[in-house]
Amino acid sequence: MSKTRVLTGITTSGTPHLGNYAGAIRPAIVASRAPNVESYYFLADYHALIKVQEPARVQRSTLEIAATWLACGLDIEKNWFYRQSDIPEIPELTWLLTCVAGKGLLNRAHAYKAAVDRNRAEGEDDDAGISAGLFMYPVLMAADILIFNAQKVPVGRDQVQHIEMARDFGQRFNHLYGEHFTLPEAVIEEQVATLPGLDGRKMSKSYDNTIPLFAPRDELKKLIAGILTDSRAPSEPKDTDGSALFQLYQAFSSKDETAAFAQAFADGIGWGDAKQQLFERIDAEVAPMREKYEALMAKPAEIEAILRDGAARLRAQHATPTLQRLREAVGLRDLSQVAVGAKPAAKKEASTTVPTFKQYRDTDGKFYFKLMQGERVLLQSTGFASPRDAGQRIAAIKQGEIGDGASDFALGEGVSDEEVNAALAAFVAAQLEGEGRHA
Ligand code: TRP
Repeated sequence: MSKTRVLTGITTSGTPHLGNYAGAIRPAIVASRAPNVESYYFLADYHALIKVQEPARVQRSTLEIAATWLACGLDIEKNWFYRQSDIPEIPELTWLLTCVAGKGLLNRAHAYKAAVDRNRAEGEDDDAGISAGLFMYPVLMAADILIFNAQKVPVGRDQVQHIEMARDFGQRFNHLYGEHFTLPEAVIEEQVATLPGLDGRKMSKSYDNTIPLFAPRDELKKLIAGILTDSRAPSEPKDTDGSALFQLYQAFSSKDETAAFAQAFADGIGWGDAKQQLFERIDAEVAPMREKYEALMAKPAEIEAILRDGAARLRAQHATPTLQRLREAVGLRDLSQVAVGAKPAAKKEASTTVPTFKQYRDTDGKFYFKLMQGERVLLQSTGFASPRDAGQRIAAIKQGEIGDGASDFALGEGVSDEEVNAALAAFVAAQLEGEGRHA
């Protein structure tokens, strides 16, 4: 059985936090271990340039994210792990897709529309401060996916539209140039946790409320101590509903542990104690990975070598041959293969045009038919007394019943027997095919 190709891109624009870990990294690594999947994980550093224009931050984030995935246990023997910008075939494909992507569809992309809406709200020009990179983002993402014919793309709800666009671009390309691309499917991770941040809102860099995944132990402790709670005193029962602290605990605990923690809330655990318990839970899971992370971060050259090796193998096995085929398909071809003196292909050769019978009544009042192929007359009938007689004769010919030495039609001018036979064979073949379909 062939494996399902699953692909995930991680934009290298920040430092991984607990929300990224519980919501994306941890489930992805679990999924990557399944025997029947072939996973592609890549650092989307071209995507990062849309948001981040500080070179040192792009570099730092790329290093941190690579080290994080390795430290969290991604098996790079079983899975593909690479950096987008190490595969020049991706931007190359982006251009081929750009040329089939509908601009109107891109106008409707959520990220772009949201930026336009913000501009309008502020009374700015629609496109003020919006780069063409943001506008073209879905095309680059489509190239990431289509180049490896990924079948499944696990994404959050906010990314579903991009997968639909990738399907649209892939479909248009296939329609124009032949079946080159598998149309990917979004896998929406419904029950994946979105963790609350320090202030109770969704943990996100844009709210500045994150807990870095590999914060050193004392920093982790300090950050957890700063999680927003209500002001209930120790011994007062606490609500688990809407408690960021509780939700964080849940993301790192078994069902039983979570139930016990809920009981402690009902029994009026003090916030200080609750935070200490949360810290211990998280640290128990993170500490072994943190150790690996720190070791990796101390050897950035090793990470660089791992990424380069992944990309080199992937290019050799997939990306380079794929682009070769795609270039050929769109007409970016080796000119030495053109036959010298060849004429451009005619619109359509007459011989490939489906032959048709035409019936008509002539000035002598009789009924005639002609077998036409394009402009050419292949057969010309003699006159029949009624349209019904002419029609029946046509029906018989179409069935292959021409009749030996038939004298009720003549070959057209300059038409050979073989040509007529070939044309009539087309009717017989169509007839058989029709019967096959109805059988
Ligand atoms: N756009 C994705 C995000 O912001 C990252 C990404 C880039 C991606 N290319 C991709 C995700 C291809 C899945 C497939 O989360």
